[in-house]
Amino acid sequence: MTGARQLLAVLAACTVSVFAIALAQEAPAPADAEAAQVQDAQVQEQVAETETATGPEAEDAPAAKADNDYVDLRRARPITGNVAAGQAKAEVCAACHGPQGISIAPAFPNLAGQHADFLYWQLVEFKRSPDSPMSPLVADLSDEDMRDLAVYYAGLAPTPAPADPDAEAEPADPALLQRGEQLYLTGDPAKGIPPCQGCHGVDARGHADARRADSSGHTPYAAWPALRGQQAMYLQTKLGEYRDGAMDDSTTDFIMTGIGHRLDDDSIQALAAWLSSLPPAH
Ligand code: HEC
Ligand code: HEC
Repeated sequence: MTGARQLLAVLAACTVSVFAIALAQEAPAPADAEAAQVQDAQVQEQVAETETATGPEAEDAPAAKADNDYVDLRRARPITGNVAAGQAKAEVCAACHGPQGISIAPAFPNLAGQHADFLYWQLVEFKRSPDSPMSPLVADLSDEDMRDLAVYYAGLAPTPAPADPDAEAEPADPALLQRGEQLYLTGDPAKGIPPCQGCHGVDARGHADARRADSSGHTPYAAWPALRGQQAMYLQTKLGEYRDGAMDDSTTDFIMTGIGHRLDDDSIQALAAWLSSLPPAH
């Protein structure tokens, strides 16, 4: 566990103790994703660099994670769910992620307007791996619950976070923001950092082809997250986890881990500062 993860775990434990989990259902999540080629050349390159991505295929990912076992999202199908049901199930989530999917503290990610497929597969991964503060919160959710919650949060308007009264009112350093923007748009060849926009979109709303299905009805980029307007502290923690190799439960984890390895503390800080400064947008 990294220090940041421990902090998250403590924060989560404190908040959870106040809220009972009202959602108790059956059944583990079937990961109905089969193995196949990813079309995008840039991605193929990234995946090829990731030795772990050549492991066994996981057509029906088991509910609990075993060694060398991961969810293969390269041929995932678009998820569907019931927004109204999701809203009803989201009461317990508001404690940390806010009543409208804008989180109440910078350590918790905003969920409003995020791609439904990304939200769903994150929940599946939390259920498979016991080491996230989210893991106990999803333990009793059914596959249907997770789909409903994902489509509900995806449909909420991503509004700017309310000003934190405890936050220091210092404006972000313009040079830091500029460095973040530059890294996002053009990468840093000297450090081997690829441009983030190739995968997260020029406007950081997710992959340009997120909603495009291939001829077999698969949406290989649907679970690639939007980043704009996300909480800076959360982005920093997450990028540190990819860098440290803590994320290893899906083909998408492997892709982002390949990038994370190239990032140093300064790059992470600049990227998180710039991305969080962007006004959220659908
Ligand atoms: C106690 C606080 C807390 C509660 C309650 C909570 N979460 Fe979370 N959530 C977190 C934290 C902390 C993370 C970051 C976890 C990590 O990175 O391992 C997170 C991450 C997530 C993510 C991943 C988002 C991303 O951008 O990667 C999703 C999706 C999510 N939560 C959904 C939910 C849903 C749905 C509920 C209600 C069933 C819920 N959360 C309840 C604290 C909470
Ligand atoms: C080759 C494609 C690719 C590139 C390039 C890329 N990413 Fe990612 N990124 C992904 C994928 C796929 C995921 C989903 C990973 C997962 O499932 O956990 C992801 C996840 C993330 C997340 C987690 C978001 C969340 O809400 O949990 C962050 C933050 C992130 N990327 C930032 C960056 C930054 C910053 C860069 C540029 C330095 C970058 N990415 C470059 C593909 C890419």
